[in-house]
Amino acid sequence: MPALERTVLVCGASSGIGRAAARELLRQGQRVIGVSREPQCFRQAHPLFSGIGADFSRPHEIPAFAARLQQNFPELNAVVFAAGYGQFGGLEQFSYRQIEELITVNFTAQAFLTRALLPQLKKQPHANLIYIGSEAALKGSRQGTIYCASKFALRGFAQALRDECGKSTVRVSIINPGMVDTEFFANLSFRPGGGPGQALAAEDVAQAVAYILQAGPHCVIDEINLNPANKVVEFKKDSGHV
Ligand SMILES: NC(=O)c1ccc[n+]([C@@H]2O[C@H](COP(=O)([O-])OP(=O)(O)OC[C@H]3O[C@@H](n4cnc5c(N)ncnc54)[C@H](OP(=O)(O)O)[C@@H]3O)[C@@H](O)[C@H]2O)c1
Repeated sequence: MPALERTVLVCGASSGIGRAAARELLRQGQRVIGVSREPQCFRQAHPLFSGIGADFSRPHEIPAFAARLQQNFPELNAVVFAAGYGQFGGLEQFSYRQIEELITVNFTAQAFLTRALLPQLKKQPHANLIYIGSEAALKGSRQGTIYCASKFALRGFAQALRDECGKSTVRVSIINPGMVDTEFFANLSFRPGGGPGQALAAEDVAQAVAYILQAGPHCVIDEINLNPANKVVEFKKDSGHV
């Protein structure tokens, strides 16, 4: 069966999982609109790619952003929510501002963007919302109070929205990866091991995104959990948390 034609908004397309998803979809001939804070970072050499700027730490700008987006790309029929970041440490090491910003970028902004885009998406013959959750959406773990809370929130949101959208043309999915070798770890005190099977590649998650998008309209892929075969965490020397 030929792949359905898509116009996909990829949030976080400048790096890691979002960039790999954007590349895979472009390779398949889909139209991709990439979002990051700095649109100049996109080298817009590909004729099917457009890059636009948005800062998810400012969620109140999202409704106007979404309205402009749907005006310019009325055919938009899928969104990959891969913008986010990690911050880890004991709860008492976080400032109140840091707590607020992590929840805002990893959860609230995604809820705002979904809220803003949903009415138009429901008018498409077939639409997908794909959230990038995490293993941290499945189980709380040490140093992860706020990050896990942001991902649990995202997963609960996706589950409830899937039910809410069941009678519409919108299919809601969440992908929960374990450690993926990306820039996510650049400012963290740990990273996945460098040995064979110790980290997922961003392309592994991109394949899961492509799989969800290729499923027929009668089928919703609820959740995909994937992990490195051999989980190893390496701690960097002298780097503080938070
Ligand atoms: N790497 C992992 O091990 C892993 C595992 C499970 C889940 N995840 C999740 O996967 C998602 C993507 O992570 P990644 O590994 O691909 O990390 P990454 O390589 O650091 O990419 C993060 C992306 O998010 C964008 N972003 C960050 N803050 C933003 C903001 N305020 N406004 C708009 N865009 C923002 C970045 O764009 P700019 O900086 O250019 O704005 C970048 O494109 C995150 O939600 C992360 O929690 C990652």
